[in-house]
Formats: sequence, C-alpha cells, structure tokens
Amino acid sequence: MLCLGIESTAHTFSVGIVNDEGKILSLISDAFKPQTGGLKPVDVVEHHYTVFDTVLKQAISKANIEFSDLDLIAFSQGPGLGPCLRVGAAISRSLSLQLNIPIVGVNHCIAHVEIGRLLCNVYDPVTVYVSGGNTIISAFDSGMYQIFGETLDLAIGNMIDMVARDYGIPHPGGPKIEEIAKYGTNYINLPYIVKGMDLSFSGLYTAIWKKSKEETSKKNQADLFYSLQETSYSMLAEVSERAIAHTEKNSVLVTGGVAANKRLQEMISNISDEHKIEFHVVPLKYAGDNGAMIAWTGILQYKTSKKTEISETKILPKWRMDEVPIPWRNSLKD
Ligand code: ATP
Ligand code: FE2
Repeated sequence: MLCLGIESTAHTFSVGIVNDEGKILSLISDAFKPQTGGLKPVDVVEHHYTVFDTVLKQAISKANIEFSDLDLIAFSQGPGLGPCLRVGAAISRSLSLQLNIPIVGVNHCIAHVEIGRLLCNVYDPVTVYVSGGNTIISAFDSGMYQIFGETLDLAIGNMIDMVARDYGIPHPGGPKIEEIAKYGTNYINLPYIVKGMDLSFSGLYTAIWKKSKEETSKKNQADLFYSLQETSYSMLAEVSERAIAHTEKNSVLVTGGVAANKRLQEMISNISDEHKIEFHVVPLKYAGDNGAMIAWTGILQYKTSKKTEISETKILPKWRMDEVPIPWRNSLKD
C-alpha cells in the first residue's frame, strides 16, 4: 500500500510518500520564510498554493511512481492555522476524488509521535513534543495519547521565535538563538513557571522583551539567550521527568522542530540516564513538519479505523491529540 501525505498546518507545505512497511519513498517540503515579522496566514496560504503543484510532482517523481500507483491520501486535519489547513484539505480531497482512492484526516500532533516511534524503533515512550505551535508531554494510556503536561499559553518554539524577532533575528529564530547561547556564561534570573504539570512561557517572554528595549552588548545578548535556554528547557525537563516517573515508561522520545536543540537533548538525555530509560530524538529531517509523518499515520489509521467520507474531512484547527482514539496501538504489530 502506498500513501501520499500532505502537511500544511503552518509554514511548511510538504508531501511524503510512504508504504505500509514504514519505508519513506520520498519527502519534499517547501517552507514559507517571511522577509520580516512572523507568519501572516494570508501570505502562507499564497505560498502553499504557489508551490503545491511542484512539491506534489517532485514527491511522485522522487518516489519513482505514478499518481495512479497511490492507494491512499492522508492530510493534516488539525490542529493548525485554519487558512493553511484548508489548502492541504482542498488539495487532498481533489486528489482523492480524481484518483478515486480513500482519504484520511490525521491529527498532526499524533503524526509527530508516530514518525518518531517508527524511525527510532521505540514502542511506548513518554513523548516530549516541542514545536512552534505545540508543547506537549504525552504518553499512551487507555487507548489514547494522554497529555501529562502542556503549555498554558505560548508554545516553546513560538516564544523563542518571538524573542528572536525582538532582537532582529529572522524567522525561525530557534537555531540562531541556540548558536548565540553557546557564547553565554552568566545566568540571568528569568521567570521559571511550572504550574502542576503545565508550563507557562509568557512571563519569560515578557521579561526578555523588556530587556530587548535596553542597550545590549553582544556578550549580554549571549548571556540572555543562554539563560532563556537554561530556564525554558529546565522547565520542560522538570515536567518530562515527572511524567517519566509517573508513567514508569522505559523510554523517552523528543520530537517537533525544537527537538533539534542540542541543549534540550542533553537535558532530557541526562534525565533518561538517571531513570535508566532509553533516550530517543527523531532524526532531524523528520522532527519538524513533514508529509512523511502524515502519510505513515494515515496508513496506521486507515488500516484500523472505519472509512472516512469526504464530508468528514472538515478541518479541525483546535483538535487535541487526547481526543483521538488510537486503535492501531492494540491491533497492529508496531
Ligand atoms: P507544529 O505545527 O507542530 O507546532 P511548527 O509549525 O512549529 O510545528 P516545526 O517545524 O515542528 O513547525 O517547528 C518549528 C520550530 O522549531 C520553530 O519555532 C523553530 O524556531 C524551532 N527550532 C528549530 N530548530 C531549533 C533549534 N535548534 N533550537 C530551538 N528551536 C528550534
Ligand atoms: Fe508540527
């Protein structure tokens, strides 16, 4: 079985083709990069409609197949930016109707978890999913991916990108902040807010925003970014550690675009060592938004759930991962 997956929740329009053994035949992505400021949905939509044809054709050609070889279309149904989700949904419906093959709408957060489980060959991890739009610590329990901790306001990646913007660093700012933070040596006190198992990054952002209005030397900036990373990743590590202790899982998986961060990896890896559990990070090519994760999750879902009608493919911008039954965890060999 060959599935073509379309990802369009935010900045990236991506197409992946995957077979039912989990082999990724191709992955082609095109990310919108704003010249200034953050992501304006109207510009992102324009981007997605401009690139979709080329991205689709390249994915088919790289996989060395024809459109007629496809058996299934999967798309990101949510959560995400409504206007962006609508582009992927419309293209997916057209393909499904034109090729006369089934369609499945996939939860984007679950896809980040499933691609990690597949590529890291890990069965039942606590998952630390950190990206521009989400910050979720989850684990499988009672037939669903239960959320053990999440952000109450800003997502970690979004908060870092906003800090970067205040310092004139173009979007996405995460990699550059990580690079500059390496030169920091002095810890500057910043708000560390963990409420129960949940996280809050807005106070941290505001504290740094105030500092961005002051004259800052290069050294001060490095210290500030170093402190930003130490504070926010320690908050994540604290909640992750408690989820590990509570669930007694024997592995942890870091996924999402912020999984690329070496300091975050180091902190979660240290916790794993202390708890004597396995530590995994999704290969970076598949850590951020990508169509391969949608295609793979589409296959799992299609094989274990009832058929989806086109009328059931309405986008779900606020769809939570803990609302989705996961039948494949019980009925398929993982
Ligand atoms: P989602 O829809 O799942 O929320 P997303 O649209 O944010 O995903 P991703 O590609 O998963 O897309 O993540 C992008 C985020 O990852 C951006 O906020 C970016 O700054 C951040 N990021 C990328 N590399 C690093 C890094 N090395 N350190 C910190 N953050 C990073
Ligand atoms: Fe994502």
